[in-house]
Amino acid sequence: MNSCANQTKPIQFLLNGEKVSVSNADPTQSVLYYLRENKKLMGTKEGCAEGDCGACTVVIGELVNNKPELKTVNACIQFLPTLDGKALFTVENLRQEDGSLHPVQQSMVDHNGSQCGFCTPGFIMSLWNVYNQYQASNTQPDQNEIRSALTGNLCRCTGYRPILEAAQNMFDLPAVEFDSDTLRKDLAEIQHDDALVYDYKGNTFFAPKNIQQLAELKAQYPEATILAGGTDIGLWVNKQFRRLNPIIYIGEIAELKEIAVNDNNLRIGACASLSNAYKAISKYYPEMDEMWERFASRPIRNVGTLGGNVANGSPIGDSMPALISLSAKVVLRSAKGSRTMLLEDLYLDYMKKDMRADEVVEAIHLPLPIPERVFRCYKLSKRYDSDISAVFAAFSLVLKNDIVESCLITYGGMAATPKRATLSEQSLIGKTWNESSVKNAMKIMEQDYAPMSDGRASSDNRMQSAANLLYRFYLETRSENPLSNESLNVFANSADISDIPVRVES
Ligand SMILES: Cc1cc2nc3c(=O)[nH]c(=O)nc-3n(C[C@H](O)[C@H](O)[C@H](O)COP(=O)(O)OP(=O)(O)OC[C@H]3O[C@@H](n4cnc5c(N)ncnc54)[C@H](O)[C@@H]3O)c2cc1C
Ligand code: FES
Ligand code: FES
Repeated sequence: MNSCANQTKPIQFLLNGEKVSVSNADPTQSVLYYLRENKKLMGTKEGCAEGDCGACTVVIGELVNNKPELKTVNACIQFLPTLDGKALFTVENLRQEDGSLHPVQQSMVDHNGSQCGFCTPGFIMSLWNVYNQYQASNTQPDQNEIRSALTGNLCRCTGYRPILEAAQNMFDLPAVEFDSDTLRKDLAEIQHDDALVYDYKGNTFFAPKNIQQLAELKAQYPEATILAGGTDIGLWVNKQFRRLNPIIYIGEIAELKEIAVNDNNLRIGACASLSNAYKAISKYYPEMDEMWERFASRPIRNVGTLGGNVANGSPIGDSMPALISLSAKVVLRSAKGSRTMLLEDLYLDYMKKDMRADEVVEAIHLPLPIPERVFRCYKLSKRYDSDISAVFAAFSLVLKNDIVESCLITYGGMAATPKRATLSEQSLIGKTWNESSVKNAMKIMEQDYAPMSDGRASSDNRMQSAANLLYRFYLETRSENPLSNESLNVFANSADISDIPVRVES
């Protein structure tokens, strides 16, 4: 293995501007535990310990193409070794040299944005990230952007109006500039080209730097857990007390984060964050905007990956039904080479995949839109923001003179895997796209699925909802008097989708 040495090294990162080195923490120790228990930095709170409430929100800085980028993350599910080579900012960092409050904090005070204060540091850090981003470009976020940045922060007592007012008015106070030059220099000093091997009491954390090293490590340790964003895995440790050893972290592999486009496909590296995948996919499929905006929260999307969603293969994962209805493919990689298959063929049974122990997901290939294909997806969940789907539906349809030429219908939440409604699809092929053929397909759908009942929805509710969503799709796409699809425009301004580098392949 070219540079994956066996020598253990400490984890090095910047904590509120100071370089720190850690060699005595378990690889699955959370950043939150480290802050509160080891560093006695009590500003960052623990509410849920599962990425849901935002009380533990911190900001992480890292060099991307030699420029520092800041993003919010949930410290409760972030493992400490993933900070190697990065910068961590907590609410304690916001105090100014003269002891005064940062404008984000001052605005929260001025607008009564805090009562018990438990959620407040998390809100402050989410807003600090927005503040820095916009202050640097001398612009101001709109309401949608602020709301989107705060979807991962829950407050049980103040209510959100005063917090939103504080956010809106924080730019009116005397500005405080973020020193990104110093951050760039400080980060540059703690970079290393070789893979990280960190060992504590026989628990090992590998962070390879390229795909070759990753494939060789997975061949050597087929039992290893692949860690990407950790937004699923963090819960295995916090809630199920699972021991994971060894861990292979893929977040340092630049090739796996690449997004490229050629004449036919958008190729999304498995470790591209959900946020970056969202920006790239939205350029081609704005129909997915609502799904992305409602996929977890911004801090989860900042570190969670599309490859992680696909590899985890949860039957209630959101991206897979949409990708399957668009005939996306998945590329699996091992030391022996790579193979590509239709994404739907990856899923064999509940959490069982056609993926060998020595294989990892390398990329997802999403076909580019074709003008004649109509596509929609819909998420049903109890809470609008940051909730897991009860049912997720994705439809793609090609009509010729109002006759169904092809139709792919995929649901999440209806079976043990994300699954196509093949019998309903077949009933539609060759038929006129009208009320009677769609109602017939809705009935036939009862043979496609036998959904379970759980806390999210009953079996009957799922069946009825799935059929109704097909009907909604029909109403939006029928040739006469189609209903307008509001979801297409609701989120059009909520994320800047222009800045994600997509490599164009000839
Ligand atoms: C608060 C919260 C809200 C959430 N909301 C949603 C939601 O709305 N919709 C939804 O679908 N999901 C949701 N999730 C689940 C999670 O965020 C997603 O599944 C995410 O895409 C996982 O990506 P990750 O990089 O964090 O994966 P990880 O947690 O790092 O890994 C997940 C699994 O995939 C494996 N894995 C990861 N990458 C690879 C790879 N390249 N090759 C092989 N195996 C790999 C890991 O070994 C593990 O088994 C939510 C999670 C939280 C905590
Ligand atoms: S403690 Fe609730 S998101 Fe981390
Ligand atoms: S101020 Fe009490 S939870 Fe938000």
